[in-house]
Amino acid sequence: MFRNTRDAWGAPAKLFHWLMAALVFAQIPLGWTAATWPLSPLKLNLFVWHKSVGMLILALALLRLAWRLGNPAPALPADTLAWERLAARASHALLYLLMVALPVTGWVINSAANIPFRIFWLVPLPAIVEPSKHAAELAAAVHFGLFVFLATLLLVHIGAALRHHYIKRNDVLTRMLPGGGART
Ligand code: HEM
Ligand code: HEM
Repeated sequence: MFRNTRDAWGAPAKLFHWLMAALVFAQIPLGWTAATWPLSPLKLNLFVWHKSVGMLILALALLRLAWRLGNPAPALPADTLAWERLAARASHALLYLLMVALPVTGWVINSAANIPFRIFWLVPLPAIVEPSKHAAELAAAVHFGLFVFLATLLLVHIGAALRHHYIKRNDVLTRMLPGGGART
C-alpha cells in the first residue's frame, strides 16, 4: 500500500520513519565523537560525516513533513485514552520539530564559526549567518540542549512503542514494521 489508510501506514511513511531512525541513531554518536575527540584528521572526517548526515536528515525531514501533510496518520486503537492521544500527538509533533531544529542550529554553528564545509565532500554549504564567535557558542549551546531534549523524547517514544506492544497488546508497533499489519 502506498498511501496511509485509517488502519495502516503506507510504504513511504514506513520508509521515511525507519530511514530517519537509522540516520538519527548514527548521527548521535557521530556528533558526540566529533565534538569530544582531540583534534586529528579522523576527528575532522567525523565532523564532515556528522554535518553531512545532519543535512541529509534536514532534507528528509522536510520531504517527510510534506508527505505527512497529505497523508494523515492511521487512527489509534479505539480504547486509547484522551491523555495518551494528546501525548502521542505532542511527542510526534516535537520529534518532527527537532528533526528540523537540530540540523538548522548545526548549520548556524557551522556558518557562525565560518568553517568552509562541503556536504559529503561535494556540495558547498552556504552560510546562513554572519561569522561571529558569540553566535557560534550560543548556537552550540542550543544544539546541545536540543540534543538532550531529543534523547529524552526518544526514550519516551520507544518506551511508548514497547508499552503498546507488550502491555496494551495492540498493533501500534507492528503496523509500523516493514510488512507489518494488524496484530494477530
Ligand atoms: C538531527 C540532526 C543532528 C543531531 C541529532 C546532532 C547531534 C549532535 C550531538 C549529539 C553533538 C555532540 C554534543 C554537542 O556538543 O552538542 C553535536 C555537535 C555538533 N554538531 Fe550536530 N547534530 C545534528 C545536525 C548537525 C548539522 C546539520 C550540523 C552542521 C551542518 C551539526 C554541527 C555540529 C557541530 C559543529 C557540533 C559541535 C558543537 C560544539 O562545538 O560544541 N550538527 N551534534
Ligand atoms: C527503535 C526505535 C523506534 C521505534 C520502536 C519507533 C516506533 C514508532 C511507532 C510504532 C510509531 C507509530 C505510532 C502511531 O501509530 O501513532 C512511530 C511514529 C513516529 N516515530 Fe518512531 N520509533 C522509533 C524511532 C524513532 C526515531 C529515531 C524518530 C525520530 C527522531 C521517530 C519519530 C517518529 C515520528 C515523528 C512518528 C510519528 C509519525 C507520524 O505521525 O507521521 N521514531 N514510531
